[in-house]
Amino acid sequence: MSQSLAIQLAERLRSEPLDLVRIAGEIAERSGYGLYLVGGAVRDLLLGQANLDLDLVVEGDAVELARALQRQAGGEVLTHPRFGTAKLRRGDLLIDLATARAESYEHPGALPTVRPSTIVDDLARRDFTINAMAIHLDASNFGRLVDPFGGQEDLSRKRVRVLHDNSFIDDATRMLRAVRYEQRFDFRLDPATERLLRRDVSMLHTVSGDRTRHEVELILREPCPEKALARAEGLGLLAQIHPSLRGNGWVAEKFRTARATAHPPALGLYLSILVYHFTDQEVEDLATALKLPGATARVIRDSVRLRQSLHALETPELSPSTAYRFLEDYSPTSILACAIASDSPLVQTRLKLYLDRWRHVKPSLDGQALQRMGIPPGPRIGRMLRALLEARLDQRVRTRSEEANLVRLWMSQEK
Ligand code: CTP
Repeated sequence: MSQSLAIQLAERLRSEPLDLVRIAGEIAERSGYGLYLVGGAVRDLLLGQANLDLDLVVEGDAVELARALQRQAGGEVLTHPRFGTAKLRRGDLLIDLATARAESYEHPGALPTVRPSTIVDDLARRDFTINAMAIHLDASNFGRLVDPFGGQEDLSRKRVRVLHDNSFIDDATRMLRAVRYEQRFDFRLDPATERLLRRDVSMLHTVSGDRTRHEVELILREPCPEKALARAEGLGLLAQIHPSLRGNGWVAEKFRTARATAHPPALGLYLSILVYHFTDQEVEDLATALKLPGATARVIRDSVRLRQSLHALETPELSPSTAYRFLEDYSPTSILACAIASDSPLVQTRLKLYLDRWRHVKPSLDGQALQRMGIPPGPRIGRMLRALLEARLDQRVRTRSEEANLVRLWMSQEK
């Protein structure tokens, strides 16, 4: 690396509000430890993009360094001495510190076995060259780049490249990560890396549902997840997760609509669009494959169930209260998903009316007001409130006094 780049990096680091990092560097220097910024923050610094997610690697004791840093600079520290890691939070800034380690995999999909080591070993266990660079933070080398695998060149050639031929076998989640970075930065997979990915695509089965879900969620948190999904479909990755998953043009269009509607769209909304054309069984299979949490599984189940009965909302003369009764048991996210995904303008309008207006409607009178009007406590109050709500929805009453008149009418009829 040229001297000028080291200076540039050091300057950029200094210009950020990163005094904590500099103090950590001074402590490391005094302790005789090597200290490095690693991973995404280095990549983004070289790309000129902001990233305050700071991962630090220590050639030495990360837990001890984190405690010393806290004593000197404040903040809260959380340590995991067994793993040699610590987190320090001060204000908005979150710093992860880890002892440099080397790792080996017992079998594909297994979590790696780790042992303390050097920064180069620590970089060697990472996913892609662009994520396998480090910047010295120890005071005397501050700002110097460590780039043993050609990450800087791959950044300038816009390449996502693995470090070795077994990378996807060791950790198949890297295949999903590869398309996420490729599409986020408008890079390309290095041709050899793409061949390895196509060779190893079936290894995605070696990964636990939790880890696959985590990577799918990371894709869905990207600014334009549909790009990575389309690419993942093209590479056969989506089919490994579930054979009916698509990242095609329809999905892309509906994802864009979702973003125009909700900022940012909830994961459940994106997932509901992805499973919109699924059968109930396919939804269950996907929920199991991705070990979806109960609440998310309910949302996508609801979306498919609602999609299957949306024709009920196509009836021309449909009162708001009837539509309300039909929709009230579905989660709002599943209703929004159907409003986005349905091709029928009438259905879309009714779903949106429900979400924007009908579900917020409340009668002016409450249970106490009804009791004051002479209705004894009991289930009749609940039935009347419900009838008032429906009268409000259908605009048969518009004011509190019209509601009271209606209640009096019902009372007189019930006598
Ligand atoms: N990493 C890896 N293999 C994984 C996950 C992570 O090698 N399966 C390494 C990479 O070096 C990565 C770093 O751990 O840069 C931090 O991971 P993460 O926080 O997930 O990614 P970032 O690089 O910070 O990227 P992003 O911008 O997506 O958060």
